[in-house]
Amino acid sequence: MSKLLSLTRAARLVGVNRVVLQKKIQNGELDAHDGMVNVDDLLACYPDAELEDTVEIQRISRIKEQAFGKRVFERALPDPEVLAARVTELSRTLALNQAMLENLKGLFNKLLKKLDETQCDAASQQMMGDLRLWIRHEAESAMEPGLGNLLAIKDNMLRVMAAHVTVLPSGHDFLLEGQDTLLEAAMSAGIPLNYGCSGGNCGLCKARVVSGEVKKTRHHDYVLTEAEKSQGWILLCSNTAVSDVSIEAAVAGSVQDIPFQEITATVKSVEPLGQDMMLLHLQTPRTQRLRFLAGQSVVLKVGQAFSAELPIASCPCDDRNVLFHVRRQNGNLFSDYVFDRMKARESVEIEGPQGEFILHEKSPRPLYFFAFDGGFAPIKSVIEHAMSLNAESIRLYWIASSREDIYMPNMVRAWADALDNFQHEEQVAGFDLRSLTARREESLIRQLQAIAEKDAGLMEGDLYVAGPEAAVRVAERFFLDLGLPRARVTSSLIT
Ligand code: FES
Repeated sequence: MSKLLSLTRAARLVGVNRVVLQKKIQNGELDAHDGMVNVDDLLACYPDAELEDTVEIQRISRIKEQAFGKRVFERALPDPEVLAARVTELSRTLALNQAMLENLKGLFNKLLKKLDETQCDAASQQMMGDLRLWIRHEAESAMEPGLGNLLAIKDNMLRVMAAHVTVLPSGHDFLLEGQDTLLEAAMSAGIPLNYGCSGGNCGLCKARVVSGEVKKTRHHDYVLTEAEKSQGWILLCSNTAVSDVSIEAAVAGSVQDIPFQEITATVKSVEPLGQDMMLLHLQTPRTQRLRFLAGQSVVLKVGQAFSAELPIASCPCDDRNVLFHVRRQNGNLFSDYVFDRMKARESVEIEGPQGEFILHEKSPRPLYFFAFDGGFAPIKSVIEHAMSLNAESIRLYWIASSREDIYMPNMVRAWADALDNFQHEEQVAGFDLRSLTARREESLIRQLQAIAEKDAGLMEGDLYVAGPEAAVRVAERFFLDLGLPRARVTSSLIT
């Protein structure tokens, strides 16, 4: 019987996005059994699979490297003990398979001998001869290193370098590579497992190993009872996967699952992103990271005098390095402070997160993002998260008051260069999107109308709109008037 592979592993082996395989299954082009595909069906779908080529994976890696910072990539090779355990397991499987192969060879030779010894008439002799030739030919072909064998070799290599993790009961799955803990690997795959400190203190990441082998990677202060240990309970932030594993763990499904947090972070850097936009990089303590869903906001406070609610402009997969885009607003005390006085290493209080501008992960629809000016900040966070989840189609329209308000054009171009599933278009409105007269509203509606007319897929998509209130309200009305259901238009207002 042909070998079964998880969808994640199969996608990795033939070098395509997991969503592409899901689409093939939905269209009936590829059979799946309990979320697994068999090697023969996979090869029938991808007869020209470039087994040595991992173009798609390299592209995703590049984009993640830029988006997620170094944390995810700093430890590429598994721990030596984990590597040794995986190689030992593969060697055991190899030895069993070799023994089985020897038995089959013996059986095969006995069969040929039996055919040689069988006495029969001339016509039957001819038939026996043909049968012997056919058996020999088939046996030799089976030993040839064909595509299926190459796939098996690649799969074995992947098994040494990465473990496949299934989360129950949600059914999420991901590959754990390098020396990542189970928690880190889940986060870089965009799966919001329950957790708190990331450092073995709070116990919130407690999960039960249902099958497979894990290895503790560091001491943790949180104490698991002997009964819990014997039932397979572990801390996800302190263990890695040795073999493919299934774990029972809670996954945050909505904003209500994320607790309110108060964290004292440190300013790592403040850098201009253009004339009127500043990139504020905060770093949380190692043991108290910010848990949030992509697209949410927090309140930042400097002392008693300066505070602002800002959308987070980074991905939840890097919960220690949290980024914000701060716009210059003359007379706004927080903005003035960031532009004129804020220095590296000073303390900033983070409170939150809040907001419901989050990705509808279960929706199969293409994703459309409309960023007005600094509305790009929460949209950037959601897009990076969607990339982690291998979303099938992401389209960004960035409409700005002026050319300068498209303040990260290079990042958007880099996404487009690296990802086939990402497309973007920037447009300049030519007026301040924060204050719209009736004439400007009409002009903005004409811009949206032109987009809707040339982009037929928009009516089938989930729309995410973010920016100053005036522009967002116009866009919401326009899309609802077009006939899009309210539930498919999600918006975020920024100041
Ligand atoms: S997240 Fe706190 S113990 Fe794992």
